[in-house]
Amino acid sequence: MMVDAKWIDIGPVEQLPALGSRTLPVQGGQEIAIFRTATGSIHALANKCPHKNGPLSQGMVHDTSVTCPLHNWRISLLTGEALGEDKGCVPVIPVKIDAGRIYIERAATLAGVA
Ligand code: FES
Repeated sequence: MMVDAKWIDIGPVEQLPALGSRTLPVQGGQEIAIFRTATGSIHALANKCPHKNGPLSQGMVHDTSVTCPLHNWRISLLTGEALGEDKGCVPVIPVKIDAGRIYIERAATLAGVA
């Protein structure tokens, strides 16, 4: 793992199939959900639906949103906001791809750590 003050290397892009997702535990903090869209873009959100904390990582990815597996709210992967009639927002973790590896922003990842 590369040490970088701003970004955390969480492994190769190929770990995620298109429309796939995985979770990343953060010690002492909130779990992160990482998603790959059909077009290959990678997004990271806190793994907690703004409705009742459903595990977004287990939802279906469609375009740039994920549908919560519990009550089908659709959450934007870009803004973390609930779409349509629903209201709520989940933290978005900035992501960058460099040389085929995924990096997530350290400060946002650790924001929930006590
Ligand atoms: S917990 Fe996600 S829609 Fe209810």
